Amino acid sequence: MRLDVVTIFPDYLRVLDLSLIGRADAEGLLDLHVHDLRDWTHDRHRTVDDTPIGGGAGMVMKPDVWGAALDDIVCAALPGGAVAKAPGTPVAEGDQARQEGPRRVLVIPAPSGEVFTQRTAEDLAGADQLIFACGRYEGIDARVGAYYAACGVEVRELSIGDYVLNGGEAAALVMIEAVARLRPGVLGNPESIVEESHAGTGLLEYPVYTRPVAWRGYDLAATEPVLLSGDHARVARHRRDQAIARTAERRPDLIARLRPAELDAGDRAALARNGWVAPAGAAHPVPLVVRPAVDGDLVALADLAARTFPDACPSSLTPEQIAAHIAVNLSPQRLALWLEDPRVVLTVAELPQGLPAPPGETDAEALPAGALVGYSAVVAEILDADGALPAGLDPRPPAVSVPPGPDGAQALAAELSKVYVDARLRSAGIAATLLAEAVSVVDNMGVTALWLGTNAANRRAQKAYRHAGFRKVGTRTYEVGGSRCRDVVMVLHPQVKLPRPGRSG
Ligand code: ADE
Repeated sequence: MRLDVVTIFPDYLRVLDLSLIGRADAEGLLDLHVHDLRDWTHDRHRTVDDTPIGGGAGMVMKPDVWGAALDDIVCAALPGGAVAKAPGTPVAEGDQARQEGPRRVLVIPAPSGEVFTQRTAEDLAGADQLIFACGRYEGIDARVGAYYAACGVEVRELSIGDYVLNGGEAAALVMIEAVARLRPGVLGNPESIVEESHAGTGLLEYPVYTRPVAWRGYDLAATEPVLLSGDHARVARHRRDQAIARTAERRPDLIARLRPAELDAGDRAALARNGWVAPAGAAHPVPLVVRPAVDGDLVALADLAARTFPDACPSSLTPEQIAAHIAVNLSPQRLALWLEDPRVVLTVAELPQGLPAPPGETDAEALPAGALVGYSAVVAEILDADGALPAGLDPRPPAVSVPPGPDGAQALAAELSKVYVDARLRSAGIAATLLAEAVSVVDNMGVTALWLGTNAANRRAQKAYRHAGFRKVGTRTYEVGGSRCRDVVMVLHPQVKLPRPGRSG
């Protein structure tokens, strides 16, 4: 690849002689030329600028000087012997046939250009010659870019970011480095391109560490044990989770552009933990908020509870039995009682911006802004002033042991009474997030045994609970609308920290 930089400060570009770019130039992998624009001036003062036509502050770079320089450089020989034809005669706008032969791109760095991204770098890395026209002052007369474009030269006005530099040189250096390192042989280890930020994953790179393992109070053995495990699959998952967490925090715009079809279950769970949900079939992830339920949620919550409960019922139950159960246990009155009771923690998952209908579906499939798509209820076994337990708390099965907390703290049991997610958003990591939230809430309450009953036939739910750290301890019978169902009983002891697979630190 031939690189030409035209500038009035050739010394500014001396840094290109250093490091990997300098070595690539010395080894012939790149063919780097830096030109002084003033070599194409003809007056005694070597003038390159003039006042703006139409008035205004500053100076504008002269098209005649730039034209003379670029005519020569665009015609320069390429490594490998290809010689450029002179730029063609300008043709009418909209009729700009590209020149045939080697691909030459005239890059004009400018804060008003389109934004230079990794995609731009990848594209430019495929060119045979890049010519950087570095403007100073108020920029280069706009006819210069227009002329070469009309002659069939590929012209790109590019900005490296939303800030203004004193000239195009620093921007050209940035672009040259980003492009050159993508050329074969320029980087020592081409693998490093694959995983870095802005590579094909659409995510920022995960944090990286090296020895010593413990440094100034940061001990990776404590904070990043997975990285020291030697388990490549777990390391890869952990790093991907961290890349997702970091991108969600720093560049939510990148998360909003991910394609759910390219995400696996672990990715979806990591996204949900970080405030995004990527349902299969959706065009892109949408924001997700997991928060305590408030009075204003009551109507939507009752509707969600009534809609989601039947999904978890065994097929042996009739619709009437299910309806009878909902009427008593998931009524707006019951939920209102729970909202008022400090011993009950109701958490909801909300889509603050809603969810557009999947591509090809009607708007009926869309969810409105503020839609509730999941909820959990934790009921603590605490007596009120009248000696009564919270409404709707199931009898604790004998298989559930309730140990005292650390340092002899009081034993306290709570039932994880509900975790339900709208069927349209299944497998999107919302249940896991609601569970993690419930565990963290009961941990703060000093609960020493969090138990639940779930239908014995519902393997999917049991797997999700196991993933969250619950272990099966027994069974119970549970009545739904007068019909007796067999439940599995599972327990988690929040004070005994179980590993939560897939959690990033
Ligand atoms: N010249 C001045 N500011 C610039 C920017 N942000 N990007 C590219 N070229 C520039």
